[in-house]
Amino acid sequence: MLSRLLRRLAIEPGESSSGRSYDPDRAYFSDRAYFSSLPRLETADLILRTALRTDAEDVFLYAADPEVARYVLWDPHTSVGDSLAYIRYLRRLYREGMPSSWMLELKSTGKVIGSMGFVWYSPLNRSAELGYSLARPCWNHGLATQALSAVVRSAFDNLPLHRLEAQHDLRNPASGRVLEKCGFTREGILRGRIFNKGEMVDTVLWSLLRSDLSRP
Ligand SMILES: CC(C)(COP(=O)(O)OP(=O)(O)OC[C@H]1O[C@@H](n2cnc3c(N)ncnc32)[C@H](O)[C@@H]1OP(=O)(O)O)[C@@H](O)C(=O)NCCC(=O)NCCS
Repeated sequence: MLSRLLRRLAIEPGESSSGRSYDPDRAYFSDRAYFSSLPRLETADLILRTALRTDAEDVFLYAADPEVARYVLWDPHTSVGDSLAYIRYLRRLYREGMPSSWMLELKSTGKVIGSMGFVWYSPLNRSAELGYSLARPCWNHGLATQALSAVVRSAFDNLPLHRLEAQHDLRNPASGRVLEKCGFTREGILRGRIFNKGEMVDTVLWSLLRSDLSRP
């Protein structure tokens, strides 16, 4: 049973998926295997797990908030149907083994209070971009930092990544602070990088290389 699971995940029996240093000649999880069954992750206050249809009401509570949506690339949800459509989209990505997101479930309440995951993944360049959003009442309690640390660890443990990156609207420094706390390096400002909510906006690009993880 275990060896079948390991074969499905394209790793050798006896090989742990955590704590390995990157070796380009070794088999990591195939990206499809990883993305089709994103591992459940746990932090002090959160459980990171795949999205369920029953999460729609919780997602709507934060995704309908214009302040949450202000600097992200999606518009505020206007009905629970929008949130359900988002969850259905994520579940299709899981089925297809494509980059997607975890739901962030707050342990103390069992409620979903946000999401975090992959914006894209490039096997050719061994890189990926991460993105996240959390419910406003939960801001500034260290939750995004907890979740991002767990996602970064999982991504580098299970995918043959060289580089993770993230970018945020220049006017959204809280997002940059989360990246900084997780060890990302600020690379610079991309002027007029994206068209969002009716205007061209400057973004800040951050990166974390695998080699940064072993920096003292
Ligand atoms: C950005 C976001 C994910 C941060 O989540 P969070 O759980 O509040 O993050 P954390 O509590 O782990 O860390 C936030 C840090 O930003 C700091 N911060 C908050 N507002 C800030 C501001 N205006 N300027 C500078 N730093 C700020 C906090 O003080 C904290 O740093 P500290 O621990 O050194 O005090 C959350 O605000 C959010 O979901 N925003 C809406 C969606 C979004 O913008 N997503 C990012 C798209 S790139």
